[in-house]
Amino acid sequence: MIVSGARYLPGYLNPADQKMLVEMVREITIEAPPFTPVMPRTGKPFSVTMTNCGALGWVSDRTGYRYQTHHPDNGAPWPSMPPILLNLWQTLTGYDQPPEACLVNFYAAMARMGLHVDGDEADRAAPVLSISLGDAALFRIGGTKRGDPTSSFRVQTGDIVILENESRLAYHGVDRIISASSTLLARSFPDISRINLTLRRVTRPGG
Ligand code: SIN
Ligand code: FE2
Repeated sequence: MIVSGARYLPGYLNPADQKMLVEMVREITIEAPPFTPVMPRTGKPFSVTMTNCGALGWVSDRTGYRYQTHHPDNGAPWPSMPPILLNLWQTLTGYDQPPEACLVNFYAAMARMGLHVDGDEADRAAPVLSISLGDAALFRIGGTKRGDPTSSFRVQTGDIVILENESRLAYHGVDRIISASSTLLARSFPDISRINLTLRRVTRPGG
């Protein structure tokens, strides 16, 4: 296993499911075009672009990281959470509350994601469910402290990783994309190598 508490489901989504999800993402981007987040304080742009669907979306700008109900550029509410994602969440996590946010990360060939903890959710009991589409990536994961040892493995198109239990607050990131390892995105997103979707429950039930 990758790290204790995490679940890795290689090839969980078949090619037809993957194509359907790419089409779903394409539709999401019509209403909610990818934006370039910047680091709090420094304003340094991320190498990934992002969008969201669901009642809440994760954003980062000079003032910080947060969830908000509207797209940071066009001010529109995020597109609603598609039933296929609600179903995947229910089937795989069994969590008693539905996900409120699906963050969509778009990786160009040279994009990466530094080690971080998904820590902006009030509900830390809920898992985070992560779906990989397109080119493979070298995914790195460690412990709950920044200095803990890490290990890396390849996540491929159709793979699902679930961070739950003691891995929920584990440091993780993407070292690099393995270019041209998939043709899934060639038609719909010719400039994008990899798409990652992460489903999150944000608020705690009743507060
Ligand atoms: C993330 O941690 O937000 C992205 C992880 C991934 O792209 O696999
Ligand atoms: Fe993350």
